[in-house]
Amino acid sequence: MAVARKHGLYVIEDACQAHGAEYKGKKVGSFGDVGTFSLNNFKNLCGGEGGLFTTDDEDYLNKGVLIRCFGDEIDEVSRRRVYNASILGYMYRNQELPAALCRAQLLHLDEYNAVRIANAEYMSRELSRIPGVIPPYCPPECKHVYFMYNVRFDPAAAGVDCDRRTFRIAVEKALYKEGMLVGQWQTMPVPAQDLFQSMLGYGGSRHPWAINEAKGIRYNYDPTSSLWPRCSATPTRSSTACMPQRQTAHGQDPDRLSQGLLEPGRGDRPRRRSDLPRRRRQALRRRMIDWR
Ligand SMILES: Cc1ncc(COP(=O)(O)O)c(C=O)c1O
Repeated sequence: MAVARKHGLYVIEDACQAHGAEYKGKKVGSFGDVGTFSLNNFKNLCGGEGGLFTTDDEDYLNKGVLIRCFGDEIDEVSRRRVYNASILGYMYRNQELPAALCRAQLLHLDEYNAVRIANAEYMSRELSRIPGVIPPYCPPECKHVYFMYNVRFDPAAAGVDCDRRTFRIAVEKALYKEGMLVGQWQTMPVPAQDLFQSMLGYGGSRHPWAINEAKGIRYNYDPTSSLWPRCSATPTRSSTACMPQRQTAHGQDPDRLSQGLLEPGRGDRPRRRSDLPRRRRQALRRRMIDWR
């Protein structure tokens, strides 16, 4: 924030993967001028779809309300639309049923996050027993809510002679065969994606880029440029696999996740709880109650 203030910039926090996370006791999404949260079906706080933003500034709130609904002015007294669009806006109105679902889920957010944290810490303790498997580290001043559980692999420590990426891909495939949703998310920086590389725009017109190019603005979407963040090429990236924590927060046994690594080679495991024999399903249910 100090850097942004120094340069006259506003900060919009992307807290879409961190509902309830904290840094030095302060909730993420409350550091910037505006905080943003996704409520899609995968997220710690789920409304089915949609999202929300948080701010304690009335002007930003009013601007957000305008953009959300076609840029329509809002009457100061009645707080209703006056059907006069004054700025360029969008149709970002959330629906009432997903909003109601989200409000109800919000009551459970702390409880579900506590389950995620307990399960993630349990997995970290178990996985750290395996040479070459590096569980996530959470600094003491942070509260991590484990939207994803990221594990790194070190083939040399595991006694395997290959590069990190090859090893990670092989482990991911093996875990997938054990019935676990493990893999890579969002590996490609946005400007590297085809849309930005081709800049074809609407109907091949190169708009909206063409508008700025006509003003002399040049875009540099060259992935080899030193301007680019190189996160996708770092050793950490190449050796990291992610597990969405919805699996453990909403009913899956964390033992199953760690056992895939602890006891590999036991063949394909059931993919869904409904595939399990009834007695095992009941045992899992009892166990989940214990976990809460
Ligand atoms: C970090 C981050 N920002 C933004 C978004 C976009 O959220 P939505 O899918 O609700 O539009 C996501 C969704 O996955 C995300 O993870």
